[in-house]
Amino acid sequence: MKIFKPTHIDSKLQSDWLYLHEQMPPDKWYHLPSFCTASTWLGMHQSLRRGQGEIEHLNQNYQNGQLEWSEYRRLLLGRASSHYGHLHGHHGIEDHHYFPQLRLREPKLNKGFDLLDSDHHHIEAQLEQIQALLGQLRYQENADPKLADALYHAIKEGGEWLYRHLTDEEDLVIPILAIYEY
Ligand SMILES: [Fe+2]
Ligand SMILES: [Fe+2]
Repeated sequence: MKIFKPTHIDSKLQSDWLYLHEQMPPDKWYHLPSFCTASTWLGMHQSLRRGQGEIEHLNQNYQNGQLEWSEYRRLLLGRASSHYGHLHGHHGIEDHHYFPQLRLREPKLNKGFDLLDSDHHHIEAQLEQIQALLGQLRYQENADPKLADALYHAIKEGGEWLYRHLTDEEDLVIPILAIYEY
């Protein structure tokens, strides 16, 4: 039997959970019809990667002295609110709608879904810390490099978890969606 490797270098998936890659490997995913659920899911993840990348870029620009405090504060508050709202909503739909259905469809992958579920809890806890820092930022009209530093690190750490989670989830979920077409 062919052994498939997870896509992300720091993946937490086990290779033997990837048996559906035989029929639906990652290089086929981008040839699926654009309107199918698998493609919509991939597109949603790309927009989450983009949102995360944008706020990390803003933090980096402030750290490099390329943004004034007022501009940094205005842009970060706006983009972080939309990105984290999107992320929270996306995980809610997965937890309450898709994951229970997918577990029933492919019970051999239950441990994989447990892992994704525990990622959601961890990411949600990170999000609460980030929201608390953003709450401070909202009322901080004068430059506060310590607060910007705390935001930089919390958002970066959240991003590391998020990027790995999105890729692990795609490895597990996209083949099921593509094969059974939800
Ligand atoms: Fe997820
Ligand atoms: Fe997702």
